[in-house]
Amino acid sequence: MMKIRLPLGLRPLQYIKKFIMKDKDIVDTTPSALLPPDSVQGMTTWRPELFRKTVNLPHVDLPARNVSKDKAGNILKPHIIKLPNFPRVREIGGDSVKRVVCNPTIMDDLDSDSKDRLTSEFGAEFGQSSYDLDHSNYTQLAMLKQVLPKDIEGLTSSQIVGHITYVNLKDELLPYKSVIGEIILSTSPRAKLVVTKTNIIENKFRNLDLEILAGDPKAGFVVEVRENECRFELDFSKVYWNPRLSTEHFRVFELIKTGDKVFDVFAGIGPFAIPIAKRKKAVVVHANDLNPESHKYLVSNVKLNKIPEHKIKCYNLDGAEFIKTIVKSGLEEHYRDKKEADVHIPMNLPALATEFLPNFKGLLTDSDLVQEESFQGPMVHVYAFSNAENKEADLKQICQRNLDCDEIECMSVNFVRNVSANKDMFRISFRLPYKVLFSSSNDNEAQLAKRAKLT
Ligand SMILES: C[S@@+](CC[C@H](N)C(=O)[O-])C[C@H]1O[C@@H](n2cnc3c(N)ncnc32)[C@H](O)[C@@H]1O
Repeated sequence: MMKIRLPLGLRPLQYIKKFIMKDKDIVDTTPSALLPPDSVQGMTTWRPELFRKTVNLPHVDLPARNVSKDKAGNILKPHIIKLPNFPRVREIGGDSVKRVVCNPTIMDDLDSDSKDRLTSEFGAEFGQSSYDLDHSNYTQLAMLKQVLPKDIEGLTSSQIVGHITYVNLKDELLPYKSVIGEIILSTSPRAKLVVTKTNIIENKFRNLDLEILAGDPKAGFVVEVRENECRFELDFSKVYWNPRLSTEHFRVFELIKTGDKVFDVFAGIGPFAIPIAKRKKAVVVHANDLNPESHKYLVSNVKLNKIPEHKIKCYNLDGAEFIKTIVKSGLEEHYRDKKEADVHIPMNLPALATEFLPNFKGLLTDSDLVQEESFQGPMVHVYAFSNAENKEADLKQICQRNLDCDEIECMSVNFVRNVSANKDMFRISFRLPYKVLFSSSNDNEAQLAKRAKLT
């Protein structure tokens, strides 16, 4: 039946009653009724007592047997109150009568037919009572919205890493950081620590200098997380870990076939290397990271995931050194053995990785290893940021320039994720050309001279 909103003077008595009741008995039907009180606005020191307020809420009392979803519950479902830690259905007068607490909007939204059915068919009685709310009864979003100035758009971003919630705060939010921390801590069941970074400039190992905003520091920074069916232990204050890369890690995982060789130049604690070594058949993974802490966790994660030693080897070298030694001998062995399988080289250090590409030039010197006609180059997966207008062209050009190669065939540029307003991360995948890997030092010198001329 169509709902007709009567002018106030013509509304039934029960609706008019709320307007003539004393202030304290009025059910506030405005959208702010269930939000934290205005007194929390602009709070910079955590004062949970300011979130307390008393609200009048409508309810429907029903014989317990009629509360179920196939009876009165069906009609009431859209109107039942939803607040965290707030029991919506309560026992009153023994277990034979139940009180269903409703959202204040029920006063306007429940049509008279439904109301009649609830009363005549299910023995409902309508009423209202007052309830004390505190900070545990609001959602995180409701609390943050009410505390932070209206003109500030929410938090930049947050990530959950085990028991740690990491928030990236805009400068304008810094005065509210401890309150933001406490709100997140009190509304996230798994969080024991809420942290933010103290330095804007990222360091060479891409780990973050962390400041604890809320929680007991004794909880510590060592967490265990799961990704791609593997377990990873890490110290979030000492190594790089980003849960937003899990899809990308899986995309690369999917590219690896039985028997392939993988050389992970900037392996971190192993999100590419560990699942590939653990779950792909007959692969050999060489995983490298310059950060001694990343290397330590990489090694311990190999054990944690019970990966046989012959499937993965870990190194603590500079990426350039790793390419010139481990990748070089691995490629020589690969071409000498005339292996059918493929070689993949992930290089995930987006701010710098393309600068490591020149290390592939002339890496192989023994041209008897493989003929150019039958040569299939190793697949490089190098990561980079771009904010150029034509990102694909920009990134292709950067890679080609670093390899001194005018044109690399079948180079694909894949979007990975948006990092910030003007920063996108990409994976550029391509096969290293024969003429790059086997370029002679003379060629290199000629190229260097050509570059010098151009600059
Ligand atoms: C962006 S993280 C990527 C880690 C991991 N591959 C992932 O996908 O999460 C880059 C890693 O490169 C390491 N790193 C930085 N400079 C390096 C270098 N010159 N040689 C080798 N590793 C380096 C850092 O310690 C860090 O673990």
